[in-house]
Amino acid sequence: MVGGGQGAYIGNIHRIAARQDGAWQLVAGAFDVDAARGHAFAAREGLDPARSYDNYKAMIEGELSREDRIDAVAICTPNFTHFPISKAFLEAGFDVICEKPLTATLEDAIALEKLVRDGDRFMGVTYTYSGYPMVHEARHMVATGQLGEIRTVQVEYPLEWMATAIETEGNAQAVWRTDPKKNGRGGSIGDIGTHAYHLAGFVSGLKLECLTADLATFVQGRALDDNAHVMLRYQGGARGLLWSSQVALGSSNGVRLRVFGEKASLSWFQEQPNELVHARLGGRTETIKRGADDLSDAAKARTRTPPGHPEGYLEAFANLYAGFAEAIHAKRERREPTDIGRDIPTAYDGLKGVAFVDAVVDSASAPNPFWMTPVAV
Ligand code: NAI
Repeated sequence: MVGGGQGAYIGNIHRIAARQDGAWQLVAGAFDVDAARGHAFAAREGLDPARSYDNYKAMIEGELSREDRIDAVAICTPNFTHFPISKAFLEAGFDVICEKPLTATLEDAIALEKLVRDGDRFMGVTYTYSGYPMVHEARHMVATGQLGEIRTVQVEYPLEWMATAIETEGNAQAVWRTDPKKNGRGGSIGDIGTHAYHLAGFVSGLKLECLTADLATFVQGRALDDNAHVMLRYQGGARGLLWSSQVALGSSNGVRLRVFGEKASLSWFQEQPNELVHARLGGRTETIKRGADDLSDAAKARTRTPPGHPEGYLEAFANLYAGFAEAIHAKRERREPTDIGRDIPTAYDGLKGVAFVDAVVDSASAPNPFWMTPVAV
């Protein structure tokens, strides 16, 4: 692992998720931008001190010199470091699991995706919400025509944790997220809008054609947007609306997706992730529960417990790790992956996310992003 040391957020989620199915072991790392703190963390994790490195370059060198070198690296650092760290590991011949957004600039994302495409390494990107079984069920229902032609997609990711200027109070996570050089051009849209955009496309199967965006910065002095509304036009004519916000009071982690087709609609909310609401033309609405016998193979492969025993965020993240492990094994064994290793987020999805952020910021900073028609009264 690179990053994810003491006091970091997502690194610990990766460790829990990776260990859950026994497919991964944490054996080496450069856990912190401060080497001494990183070593102290590695010691607490019980790692062999020889495999706790000062930085990612030393880690590559050290691991290349070992017979029992790492299989893959998880990159859990701030956005602007994803590119140099991923590139270095890929070029050294390691498979990579990287956090989203893939990079801080579109140029870097294009270069990284090309490196993966032209090479023979695996690169997974941790779009968390595509790990949930009921999200896979929704994707399956759309793909098998159960909603008919898709008309509209409504997706939102509201959070409340940045509703005040916590970056000025030293909040470690907020400090780099509000620095355009470290976070990238998009604030909320890059941090969480990329999750929403991936989720909407993953379930609906729709491909974005164009968009128009309205970005706002509500917290005074903040350099990046903390609220975004984006109108989406998909290829084939379907429409969408995406809302991301870091200042939405009362929203802990309110990821919500609704997909409306000509025959039915689906609704999924990450704070109730074991349920999918399916409403059909004619008025019948049913709640589909995770673990039910008649779900798709994609959902079953990502389910551990019977219905009624809640599964959630950590299991969804573990499903990504199980999927990455299976994809890597299948690649090495030159076979097709089983269900858990299919439809997992890769470098190309990461590139699409960064391209989306770029288009949103371009749209919002255009002189007349959309024609604002005044109302008479
Ligand atoms: P954080 O600020 O809590 O942790 C960053 C860690 O990286 C710290 O331990 C820091 O010392 C370390 N670090 C920074 N530069 C480094 C370097 N050059 N070498 C080694 N270590 C270095 O950040 P947080 O919130 O954990 O976010 C990290 C990444 O994860 C971001 O890209 C973020 O967008 C993503 N993220 C993804 C989530 C998801 O649901 N998939 C949720 C939260 C964050």
